Amino acid sequence: QKGGYEHFMLKEIYEQPKALQNTITPRVKNGLPNFSSDNVPDELLKNAKAIHITACGTAMHAGLVGKSVMERLARVPVNVDIASEFRYRDPLVNEGDLVIIISQSGETADTLAALRLAKNKGAKTLAIVNVVGSSIAREADCVVYTHAGVEIAVASTKAYMVQLSVLHLLAVRLGLLKGMIDEAEGKRLVSLLGAVGETLEQMLSDTSLVQAAAQHIVQAPDIFFIGRGRDYYLSMEGALKLKEISYIHCEAYAAGELKHGTLSLITDGVPVIALAVEPKLFEKTISNIKEVKARGAYVVAVLSKGVMLDDQTADTSIHLPECDEFTQPFLTAAILQLLAYYTAKGKGLDIDKPRNLAKSVTVE
Ligand code: M6R
Repeated sequence: QKGGYEHFMLKEIYEQPKALQNTITPRVKNGLPNFSSDNVPDELLKNAKAIHITACGTAMHAGLVGKSVMERLARVPVNVDIASEFRYRDPLVNEGDLVIIISQSGETADTLAALRLAKNKGAKTLAIVNVVGSSIAREADCVVYTHAGVEIAVASTKAYMVQLSVLHLLAVRLGLLKGMIDEAEGKRLVSLLGAVGETLEQMLSDTSLVQAAAQHIVQAPDIFFIGRGRDYYLSMEGALKLKEISYIHCEAYAAGELKHGTLSLITDGVPVIALAVEPKLFEKTISNIKEVKARGAYVVAVLSKGVMLDDQTADTSIHLPECDEFTQPFLTAAILQLLAYYTAKGKGLDIDKPRNLAKSVTVE
């Protein structure tokens, strides 16, 4: 059943190129995103007075990356909320708003309750769900199914990856509908998305650098992840994945926030996984990396291809393969999944079934 892989998590990481292809291909027509076969009317996106995204855990982290790409391409504000917060704070959701619900299982109790609340408030709901016929899929006004296949490992990997792909396609569609990007740009972005699976597949053929980095952090009691912008949102997912399966305390911080408190925790040898991928924020993040390095941190830098840092800045670097800025999140995410996996493996833990956790959280 594990297809020769030691754990389902690793198998599922390697299934991601195929899952991306299966999810993206049916939503591309004439080189542009098209959700007509999902029965998502353009008006739903175009006329939304406000856009909200709500979900739990990894699905919420996908929503944060979705926010950044939607805001960038369509210039519309997108609010992202943890479902268990959203439902109890009388959210400012009104008739005519669009609420996007993200869930692998389609059964997460808080996410389902958030969906019901949004509907009661008169919003339109669009669910991005993996499990066909699940409660969230049945109750939402429209559903975009991700085609990750069955995900068995408690730590979500391929479901997150395909959630990202749907959110990127929606962002391009929204950008076109709002007139913020033209058709040529839409086609360029969609063709980049269409190629990301192949790039990911090549990257997965040699994971030796990630495995080596995992060996350096396996004994650490605490690990920090830092990044800015989209890299910060990816850091949050990297920290969740690592803590979930390795039982190491991990925290993600916006790199620019370090000085406001967290820097006091950085002492000799504390590992910092630093994401400095997003081009326009690179210089700023590098200066934060130097701050932690000067306090003795062991820095693992995640960088774009060809970017070299001296050993005064980073102790080890992991490079993304050649790719466009638009598709960087997919590759960064896979690096962080592998880092979590090999760290937990180094500790000999039950990777597919971490203690105290369930695959589907159907109770509050
Ligand atoms: O099935 P869902 O996507 O609604 O699940 C949400 C979270 O419970 C889930 O993503 C959880 O955070 C994962 N175990 C993280 O790897």
